[in-house]
Amino acid sequence: MKGWQQYWRQFSLFALLALVLTGCGKDELSALKPSGPVAAMQFDLMKLSSAIMIGVFIVVMTIFTYVLIRYRKRPGQQGIPKQVEGNHALEILWTVIPFLLLIIMAIPTVTTGFALHKEYPKEEAVQVKVTAHQFWWEFEYPDLGVATAQDLVLPVGKKVQFVLSASDVKHAFWIPALGGKIDTNPGQENKMWLQADKTGIYYGKCAELCGASHALMDFKVEVMEQADFDTWVANMKGVQAKEPATATSPLAAEGQQIFDKSCLGCHAVAGKGGKMGPNLTNFADRERVAGIKAHTPQNIAEWLKDPQKMKPGNKMPNLNLDDTQVKALVEYMGTLSVSEKK
Ligand code: CUA
Repeated sequence: MKGWQQYWRQFSLFALLALVLTGCGKDELSALKPSGPVAAMQFDLMKLSSAIMIGVFIVVMTIFTYVLIRYRKRPGQQGIPKQVEGNHALEILWTVIPFLLLIIMAIPTVTTGFALHKEYPKEEAVQVKVTAHQFWWEFEYPDLGVATAQDLVLPVGKKVQFVLSASDVKHAFWIPALGGKIDTNPGQENKMWLQADKTGIYYGKCAELCGASHALMDFKVEVMEQADFDTWVANMKGVQAKEPATATSPLAAEGQQIFDKSCLGCHAVAGKGGKMGPNLTNFADRERVAGIKAHTPQNIAEWLKDPQKMKPGNKMPNLNLDDTQVKALVEYMGTLSVSEKK
């Protein structure tokens, strides 16, 4: 009786866990809702191998249960039953079936593998150079002559050829809805292509433990119509070819002064500034602050006051700004936009 109760308790715990954990998936972080051909190919492989594994499990468990019941020891039975050693027909059967199943899995796996490792030249795909940093993402478009950070901008329905590396430690680049992850390693270039078939915002993550803020190393992918993408590139190119524009409002001008003195050494705006930190040319157009928080003046202010608090271990020093300076900087950074839809 006690045993039954113990099992019941364990069973309820597992049932509860299963119920609660099924709520853990976020749509944007699920590989089970593919939004492009790469993710779709990978999802097809998952479905095929899962179907085969479930099939094998059901067949084996059915035979197992049948044998348990059919050949169980019955009341009054004496001695041990007739012992059988080896059966050629059966042994050949259970060697050949897994062999065939493996071939059924191997053919699409290998052909998909080759399709995924194809490299597309610039005539067929947008080329994007990705550099991972602790804890942010740098995106350069070498053929288009523009660079951005944190928000990757892509045209819909077009192949994108990525060349990926890292500046410090190992990270991994992952956009679950578009395709599997790939490592970004210092001093080594990895390649991968992806394609998004729907416009909208996709979520990207770092998928390799890389330090204190690994879990906060998110990025966004903004997928737009080709015409909008072309406009974005033209705007970025225009702005990045020039000196930063002079702020017009008095508060923003004050912010620009602080920015030029304290920030421009590490962060580029338009055609000026360093490369240590994310390029801020189109900062006001971004989806998130620091890749994680809603893009609101409050969150920008919170970040500027203490960057380590929001993203521990990042390379941005605390500039010890007072509230007036923060307010001016937030105002100035709000003007850093290349989009016309504001
Ligand atoms: Cu970068 Cu984890």
